[in-house]
Amino acid sequence: MDYLDTRRSSSHSGRILAAAILITVCVIFLRQSNDRSSPSLLSTTSSAKYDQFSRHEPGVTHVLVTGGAGYIGSHATLRLLNDSYRVTIVDNLSRGNLGAVKVLQELFPEPGRLQFIYADLGDAKAVNKIFAENAFDAVMHFAAVAYVGESTQEPLRYYHNITSNTLVVLEAMATHNVKTLIYSSTCATYGEPEKMPITEETPQFPINPYGKAKKMAEDIILDFSKTNNMAVMILRYFNVIGSDPEGRLGEAPRPELREQGRISGACFDAARGIIPGLKVRGTDYNTADGTCIRDYIDVTDLVDAHVKALAHAKPGKVGIYNVGTGKGRSVKEFVEACKKATGVEIKVQFLSRRPGDYAEVFSYPSKINRELNWSAQHTLEESLQIAWRWQKSHRNGYGEQ
Ligand SMILES: NC(=O)c1ccc[n+]([C@@H]2O[C@H](COP(=O)([O-])OP(=O)(O)OC[C@H]3O[C@@H](n4cnc5c(N)ncnc54)[C@H](O)[C@@H]3O)[C@@H](O)[C@H]2O)c1
Repeated sequence: MDYLDTRRSSSHSGRILAAAILITVCVIFLRQSNDRSSPSLLSTTSSAKYDQFSRHEPGVTHVLVTGGAGYIGSHATLRLLNDSYRVTIVDNLSRGNLGAVKVLQELFPEPGRLQFIYADLGDAKAVNKIFAENAFDAVMHFAAVAYVGESTQEPLRYYHNITSNTLVVLEAMATHNVKTLIYSSTCATYGEPEKMPITEETPQFPINPYGKAKKMAEDIILDFSKTNNMAVMILRYFNVIGSDPEGRLGEAPRPELREQGRISGACFDAARGIIPGLKVRGTDYNTADGTCIRDYIDVTDLVDAHVKALAHAKPGKVGIYNVGTGKGRSVKEFVEACKKATGVEIKVQFLSRRPGDYAEVFSYPSKINRELNWSAQHTLEESLQIAWRWQKSHRNGYGEQ
């Protein structure tokens, strides 16, 4: 009996072991085939939802938002979803936050509203597959690396990520007959103009790889648009600040990018004690208080410009617009506004100029005001107050609080 029982139980455990091995092999195989076969299989949608993304639906505009896990792209997605658009985000998460995508998914869980696809725009095969499997009506192309300083250290990365990836997106749009493009460009394409304010007619002579890569991408888009009846809107943003007034999204660059940082991030980091204080570089510029002057545009206002640009996009037409407030604010003014918004007496160290900074940059936004009926609504102070609320309650960005 003992002998028989032992044999039976050992053959039973053998069967369990064999089944476990088989299941493991199947799971590994499925995972590998998913990885190989399609980046869209990494998307967070179910197949039922996926169906709605793969066909055009009357009355529903499906927008591909590249870089939708990033700062501006996530805010744009929120606005598009609020306005009843269908959105597909494509992002490689190299810079953005999956946490932002999760916030959006929790806000819009209904089938056919939002899907996230993890993919790199440098992978032309993957991008083509995404376009083949989804019925897009328009593309908002935000995805990019976007730090001037970093671009001077790693120029090839910038030309590849910005210029060459835009080419990949355009080729996929052409192949799959997607006819509307809203492109994220920048005032860095103007370089250091002699005359202020900057209009859309101001000659573009970019002075760093970031600005040059964006200018090249613009040129490619413009040349291509001459050969077909695409609807193109190029928006050249000035310095973007602020966050969602309802506190759902914010700006959360990776800690390693803080050094490259933008002034608002540095101010908030100083207010939270993450850095000891602020370093203001250059107090002898030819400006009223000697510090540099920039045009700070609120992200909610910027996103509003995108929605208006999409609504006004017309086949065979190209619109190029500066998106700024039209008002320059000095670094000293910015720091004072930040102190007021945060209630923290931020320590400021005044240093000599940083090479490559120009004294004064601000927009003349009358074209966008006239043609798209758009104007900035937020003051610098309001934007900083809103952004500070999110920063204060998200000490670790989208990570654990
Ligand atoms: N923030 C500003 O002040 C500012 C000013 C002018 C223009 N812009 C432009 O606005 C756009 C968005 O900027 P942001 O501030 O939101 O930056 P961000 O870094 O927060 O977002 C960019 C997103 O693109 C993604 N991405 C980058 N390379 C990718 C790739 N190869 N494939 C897929 N995804 C990729 C990143 O993961 C990230 O989520 C950029 O095109 C930038 O040049 C920003």
